[in-house]
Amino acid sequence: MFPPPPSLLALAAATALLYLTTPPVECCPASDRDSLLAFRSSLNEPFLGIFDSWKGADCCSGWYGVSCNPTTLRVSDVNLRGESEDPIFYKSGRSGYMTGSIHPAICRLDRLTTLVLADWKGISGEIPACVTSLSSLRILDLVGNRISGSIPASIGNLDRLTVLNLADNQISGQIPSSMVKMSSLKHLDLRGNEISGQIPSDIGELSMLSRALLGHNRLTGAIPRSIASIYRLADLDLSTNQISGCIPEEIGQMRVLSTLNLDGNRLSGKIPRSLLSSPGLGILNLSRNGLEGSIPDAFGPGSYFMALDLSNNRLTGKVPGTLGSARYIGHLDVSHNKLCGHIPEGEPFQRMESSSFLHNDCLCGNPLSSC
Ligand SMILES: *[C@@H]1O[C@H](CO)[C@@H](O)[C@H](O)[C@H]1NC(C)=O
Repeated sequence: MFPPPPSLLALAAATALLYLTTPPVECCPASDRDSLLAFRSSLNEPFLGIFDSWKGADCCSGWYGVSCNPTTLRVSDVNLRGESEDPIFYKSGRSGYMTGSIHPAICRLDRLTTLVLADWKGISGEIPACVTSLSSLRILDLVGNRISGSIPASIGNLDRLTVLNLADNQISGQIPSSMVKMSSLKHLDLRGNEISGQIPSDIGELSMLSRALLGHNRLTGAIPRSIASIYRLADLDLSTNQISGCIPEEIGQMRVLSTLNLDGNRLSGKIPRSLLSSPGLGILNLSRNGLEGSIPDAFGPGSYFMALDLSNNRLTGKVPGTLGSARYIGHLDVSHNKLCGHIPEGEPFQRMESSSFLHNDCLCGNPLSSC
């Protein structure tokens, strides 16, 4: 046999070489993989071994918590939760714990839509300011860690963000004024941090917002009137801050507001009538403020309160008679005020405990002692 001509040999060799060096088509770009590995390098997860799966060339397959866009094969989600139903948690018999910090390399994943690093309890350091350049980001959830520093000033650049959850960390500083530019924001949770300063007066610009949870911080100043113009707002929690001034009357006219927690502040003035006659409000907590005047006699068949807590204020006058005409009052608490006179008779007062009425000036009648 003659040996094959050299040109054929060269072709075979070239084909083999091509086959060996061209990566498989379905694979994440090396740059995304490198960014993930740099991100991982500043985190330490000692108990579950979730990062053991972060190996091999293709970060789009089998890397715990990583997903890619099926068309572009760019990394779209980094979703790492320290409390979840994933079997990896059953196997180790514990919830997650992770220390370290958020490496700015995460910002090189410029197609990221979801960044979740939630409930790891020990992740510290600051939120890298560059996350505000992740223009596709829709979910940023860092709840339940030890993250400190302030919210990046240019957070408002994230105009596609729908969920911003930074609750239960050690974040300080003020709410950046740019935040009102986050025009897609639906769910804002900053509870349980050390955030100070005032709520931006133009917060009403966040027209998509349905939950604004700012409780347990160090916020001061008044409740901005513009809040009442957020049409979709269903849940507003400003509890346990140092908020002062009056409760804007307009809040009682909000169409879908169902939970309003303003307890534990320095609110003064009277309780707006509109709050008690609002047909949608089901949970109202105004406890532990400096509210004065009488409780508006404004309840009616539209009032449906699962919880109505007006305790620990300086309310005077009677327990309003119209309370009896409310469609439903679950838990009522008017204790620790300066109320006086007969507690009205009939449902819903029949099934209430005396503790709901204790520590007032001169309340009497069932369930307290007779007048
Ligand atoms: C209202 O808030 C106070 C604390 O500020 C809390 O102790 C109380 O349980 C709350 N009331 C209801 C009905 O949840």
